[in-house]
Amino acid sequence: MILAIESSCDETAVAIIRREDQTPKLLSSLISSQIEIHREYGGVVPEVACRNHAQRVRPLVQQALDDAGVTLEDITAFAATRGPGLASSLLVGLAYAKGLAASSGKPFFGINHMEGHLLSPFLEEGAIPPHLGLIVSGGHTMLIDVQAHGQYQLIGRTIDDAAGEAFDKVGRMLKLPYPGGPEIEKHAREGDPKAFAFPRAHLNDTPFHFSFSGLKTAVLYQLQKLDDPQTHLADICASFQAAVIDALVKKTIKAARQTGHTLITLSGGVACNRTLQEALTVAAQNVGIGVQPTPPSLTTDNAGMIAFAALLASENRPADPLDIGINPNLALATIPT
Ligand code: KG4
Ligand code: ZN
Repeated sequence: MILAIESSCDETAVAIIRREDQTPKLLSSLISSQIEIHREYGGVVPEVACRNHAQRVRPLVQQALDDAGVTLEDITAFAATRGPGLASSLLVGLAYAKGLAASSGKPFFGINHMEGHLLSPFLEEGAIPPHLGLIVSGGHTMLIDVQAHGQYQLIGRTIDDAAGEAFDKVGRMLKLPYPGGPEIEKHAREGDPKAFAFPRAHLNDTPFHFSFSGLKTAVLYQLQKLDDPQTHLADICASFQAAVIDALVKKTIKAARQTGHTLITLSGGVACNRTLQEALTVAAQNVGIGVQPTPPSLTTDNAGMIAFAALLASENRPADPLDIGINPNLALATIPT
């Protein structure tokens, strides 16, 4: 039974997992979000985030134990996200989980946040089949060729802004509340995705890499040209969202065909976007490829996905030494040479 802590950005989260009859079961999964606090500043303030993690982590661990109906003595290993993320935020969760491991003499596993996202679609099954994973979060956009648990190759990534970051930055331009992603999706429902012809970067030399900064600039220029941008809000949101989705879907399908995968996953915060889910599912179906959805509770940052990655780590590799540190730039996979 593993207790995992996630504190890489602006959510403090704790989850407890164990295998029951082969299938992983989340006994509890709690998230204490700081979004309301950071909204005032239009984005995450690292100093504010780490102080809030420090205040929230201990009571949240206790509540997770209470919800699961277990005590610290029942936990057999501890885990925490060690990167990538904000250094001061990561430190809080990692130090707390290592402290619990050190004081109890139980094993500790440091987990890559992106591996948490990548594996999250399979939490209910408990095993990782070969597949192509598209991770779209606030900080990363990655296409990963997954052969098995722990065998990952990076096929493509963003060369500038992450998909979620583009949503958040365009949201700020449109004076929408932080985070911009869900707000843009909401307004896009009322708009025409063809109203504005925003660019799609093709990057012919690196066909599986993404670029969203040109799109962001195109939206900015369009806003400057309009007399009253607010009256075009829905059309701008729909057209911007269509450009992001178009790039994500086309490159993902192309990468799946090149790698020969017949299963695609979509994970990370932007995977909440229903229009993206539908577009990817339809495009994949058209070429005979399946899409494994991520349970909605596991798309934006949570500790359930960290607990599941830790469960698989505990079954496949030795525990980490207690002097293991955070790594704000921790890589998940490299591009094959
Ligand atoms: O995975 P996540 O919770 O945190 C990171 O690891 O970054 O992803 C957060 C990102 C934010 O950029 C947010 O705007 C985006 O996910 N997001 C969405 C939607 N819901 C969250 N983007 C587009 N459409 C959504 N419905
Ligand atoms: Zn994340």
